[in-house]
Amino acid sequence: MVSALPDRILVTPVRAEDAAELAEMLNAIIVRGGSTAYEEPFTADQLAAAMLTGPNVLRCVVARDEQSGSLLGFQTLCRSDALPDGVVDIATFTRPGLTRRGVGSALFAMIRRFATNRGLRAINATIRADNISGLAFYSKLGFVDHHIQHGVPLKTGQLVDRVCKRFTPLSTTALGNLSDS
Ligand SMILES: CC(C)(COP(=O)(O)OP(=O)(O)OC[C@H]1O[C@@H](n2cnc3c(N)ncnc32)[C@H](O)[C@@H]1OP(=O)(O)O)[C@@H](O)C(=O)NCCC(=O)NCCS
Repeated sequence: MVSALPDRILVTPVRAEDAAELAEMLNAIIVRGGSTAYEEPFTADQLAAAMLTGPNVLRCVVARDEQSGSLLGFQTLCRSDALPDGVVDIATFTRPGLTRRGVGSALFAMIRRFATNRGLRAINATIRADNISGLAFYSKLGFVDHHIQHGVPLKTGQLVDRVCKRFTPLSTTALGNLSDS
């Protein structure tokens, strides 16, 4: 496990060979529970198809510790039939034990530029209502509440609301933030 703050975080597009390490990282988050809506572990191939390099992936970037080369997190933009044209889903995962060190924000700096350059209308984040970190993270990035999906069942049958937040890349505020980064 990475426990120290990396000296330098490099953010780059994902590579096919990152899939196994990212699956291991995401599966550790899934086993912990309480944050991601995913409840079953991913194989490297499943993760690649769903979030890294598959046909619905618009852009996926990874953060890497420049010194050790280890992967610190990833963020992905994916198309969804459930969303209107020009609106895409986002998901972000950072290595357990290395949260709140700026990795998620570093990933979003690159994703935000991509979304702005592509002229995307909005980015949708769907977050479990009990995921305090996830809600605070996306709010800090400038996502605003859009709607709530009430009572979505987990595999135990427990019902958990989902909060859908949206970020508008071309809004005046977003462009202001962009020039700050
Ligand atoms: C949510 C997550 C992606 C945040 O990544 P991160 O690298 O820790 O985020 P950052 O360090 O860039 O934090 C940016 C800001 O988000 C907010 N934030 C992040 N985690 C927070 C927490 N636990 N409590 C309160 N605010 C938090 C803060 O405002 C923070 O800025 P600050 O530390 O300067 O105050 C990470 O915790 C994670 O992978 N969680 C598990 C998976 C998940 O919940 N993903 C989101 C749903 S897809």
